[in-house]
Amino acid sequence: MMPANTLRGDGRTDIEMNFDQVDRGGSGLTEDVQTSYSQAMEAETRRQPGEIRDAVLSVLRVHPSGVSVGAIIRDASRLIGDDVRESSVRSYLRLNTPRLFHRLARGRYQLAAFGDGPTATTNEGSFRTAVHGNATLVHADCLEWLEQRAPNSIHAVVTDPPYGLVEYSAKEQSKLRTGKGGVWRLPPSFDGVRRSPLPRFTVLSPADRVSLGDFFARWAAILAPALVPGANVVIAANPLLSYIVAGALAQAGLERRAEIVRLVTTMRGGDRPKGAHKAFADVSVMPRSMWEPWLVFRKPLEGRVQDNLRKWHTGGFRRPSATQPFGDVIRSAPTRKAERVLAPHPTLKPQGFLRHLVRGVLPLGEGVVLDPFCGAGSTLAAATRVGYASIGVEKDPEFFELADRAIPQLVGYQPNGGC
Ligand SMILES: C[S@@+](CC[C@H](N)C(=O)[O-])C[C@H]1O[C@@H](n2cnc3c(N)ncnc32)[C@H](O)[C@@H]1O
Repeated sequence: MMPANTLRGDGRTDIEMNFDQVDRGGSGLTEDVQTSYSQAMEAETRRQPGEIRDAVLSVLRVHPSGVSVGAIIRDASRLIGDDVRESSVRSYLRLNTPRLFHRLARGRYQLAAFGDGPTATTNEGSFRTAVHGNATLVHADCLEWLEQRAPNSIHAVVTDPPYGLVEYSAKEQSKLRTGKGGVWRLPPSFDGVRRSPLPRFTVLSPADRVSLGDFFARWAAILAPALVPGANVVIAANPLLSYIVAGALAQAGLERRAEIVRLVTTMRGGDRPKGAHKAFADVSVMPRSMWEPWLVFRKPLEGRVQDNLRKWHTGGFRRPSATQPFGDVIRSAPTRKAERVLAPHPTLKPQGFLRHLVRGVLPLGEGVVLDPFCGAGSTLAAATRVGYASIGVEKDPEFFELADRAIPQLVGYQPNGGC
């Protein structure tokens, strides 16, 4: 997708040109109307370039099946924090249809990408994008991508980030792909079962841990402005490193709300003393992991929970049913082979678990769920399956291609019972 606010030859943007095309004062308007018109024009010209474009696009992204111009104006004004002129929005929509938008009916528009069939590969600014229904996959470093987001445009985050800093570097991925291991532990086959590789978090030095904290502090600081007030941020962690991520997120001003326990035994690794199994037959070196922590943070609310729910549609969790609260323990199986065949990513999370979690993060079922480290696109597939709009960002070109292929497969995947 080309940026709608492209700089023109005269150095002005499309949107600035749009303002020139709306009727100007001096055409028989009364003085009062003339004054409010001038004030409105002054407000429009004070805006940051691209502010209206970003707000309009954000609104359309959460309405995959289209939305009325009235709702676009209302929500865009809310995102910007100031009234947006109807004529500006209408002329922006008109001038960018059909390139960016479909006009579904009189006064009703849809992002063209959502109406292009199952897959459309486009370029959004400098980022390559693949669209699957209401899921948008972006090939980018999420830090760069997040820096360009409109404020208050993301309603929830569900993500499984890298933890070793280096395990998803080109060098370590090349070692893993050629079976050399590197920081990836390649467990031997056992009883005919081939286990998934696992990054060795225990190899992190004290300096690596500081860098990890710095990375997440920077990530959270860039993420926070893009979140709407009350947005949930749910992050897969592990018991060895979760305190570092939690500290960094709290430092960025996000509120720690809970920890969700994914009850899972992956059977990875041994618990006995290396090279001394027999000598110390009754010893476990560390507790064998039978759960996975998912940290739950929230952007501070605007007002009370009910105010925030009304204004931003966020600020809580969606209950599985009217009689059941959203709980903090979710039983889960390890990712099954049938699923890994569809999406061969070394740390693929299972659909059963993700669908339950992703459904829960939007209390009213409205908004956009972001996975900034989306791997094979499992969060996007889960979001699509539960009827939510989603965006996933993946830096590695091979995983981006993998996600592009895997998302439709994962959407259709039917787990054998439960999570
Ligand atoms: C732990 S994996 C997520 C796997 C995912 N849960 C799944 O089910 O497929 C983390 C992913 O983040 C990607 N990644 C690492 N750093 C990134 C960055 N700065 N921006 C975007 N993606 C990044 C890695 O390439 C990797 O695919």
